[in-house]
Amino acid sequence: MSQFFEPKLIKALKDQPTPFYYYDLDVLDQTLQAIKKAVGDSPYHIHYAIKANANPEILKKIKSYGFGIDCVSGEEVAAALKHGFRVEQIAFAGVGKRDDEIELGINAGIFTFNVESLEELQVIQEIAEKLDSEVNVALRFNPNVNAKTHEYITTGLEENKFGINEWELDELFELMPKLKRLNIRGLHFHIGSQITDLSVYKNLCNRVNDFQQKFRERGYQLDHINVGGGLGVNYDDPDAELIPDFERFFNIFKEFVHLYPRQRLHFELGRAIVAQCSALISKVLYVKKGVKKNFAILDAGMTELIRPALYQSYHKIQNLSRLDDDTDHAYDVVGPICESSDCFGKSVKLPESKRGDIFAIRSTGAYGEVMRSNYNLRKDAKTIYKHEIL
Ligand code: LLP
Repeated sequence: MSQFFEPKLIKALKDQPTPFYYYDLDVLDQTLQAIKKAVGDSPYHIHYAIKANANPEILKKIKSYGFGIDCVSGEEVAAALKHGFRVEQIAFAGVGKRDDEIELGINAGIFTFNVESLEELQVIQEIAEKLDSEVNVALRFNPNVNAKTHEYITTGLEENKFGINEWELDELFELMPKLKRLNIRGLHFHIGSQITDLSVYKNLCNRVNDFQQKFRERGYQLDHINVGGGLGVNYDDPDAELIPDFERFFNIFKEFVHLYPRQRLHFELGRAIVAQCSALISKVLYVKKGVKKNFAILDAGMTELIRPALYQSYHKIQNLSRLDDDTDHAYDVVGPICESSDCFGKSVKLPESKRGDIFAIRSTGAYGEVMRSNYNLRKDAKTIYKHEIL
């Protein structure tokens, strides 16, 4: 029996037209409470990475916990403002900020631009001059720390496009006094996503201390350090760990990052906050016999959830119509899209499944709905919250 799906809920889900994204905001609440508890009275501030999921109800709940927002586009900055997040809690990162996006952030008066290159610093300086404004920035460094995750979501290695490299420091220190409109307030790092080997965060902390030391030697006082996000979740067995181990995560930073008096440590968590509060619900359209294996063909596909096709990522799949049956049949669970990569899982152990059965694809709260597309001219899947149907 699954903790996430009680029989009454399954009955209610079966009445809804598929496919749809199902959200349990109680799970989100418990997750947010766990973060608050783990942070305790440390001078830590959380910016939710809105790229993971920008649903209004999700944002409302996250805002109610006083979190800020981490954005990577002008559109995300606008969405954060529209949903009532305080402008002084909005950070804006990204390697390719357009001029109009920079202007938007400056005019709104956001907390910081997390700046990714020396050229970007000069562009922001020019735009700030034009607008006759001062701008708060944090410098995003590439710490060259291996996050030991999928190569597409690794961001902290020297060969990645993100951040300023350590070997550019001399040039940076020469440039900084010329950036009269910029207040350099912090350092920013983000090494990757879905990090499950937490020892890599210890390596990040050591690099943070090195960088901070170099700035102090030059007389720069920084009011915050931003260590990004990346904490992974349990995709294999979501019910065993619906709430990630935030205590363990924050303790690494408590132990290894050297903060100076009045300095704050910022985090940009996305996935760990929202992944487990959602499942993609879909119906079996056909069960097709192949030469060596059978296919369960769903009415959801890579248009609704692209992660398996794009990153070969694993999402647990359950047949909600037969939760108590033995999982003694193997299926390739596929979608209806005209692409062979439109596959949610190969040789998935499931009960014998039939047309009309309801499947749940778990842990889809992060980078699920936000990454959907209308390929094959399919329409957007609906969003259904637990409180709407129970
Ligand atoms: N901060 C920055 C600068 C980022 O680039 C990201 C994610 C985050 C924070 C949040 O990371 P999180 O805590 O969610 O791991 N679409 C991919 C994930 C891409 C992550 C991009 N950056 C996926 O579905 O796995």
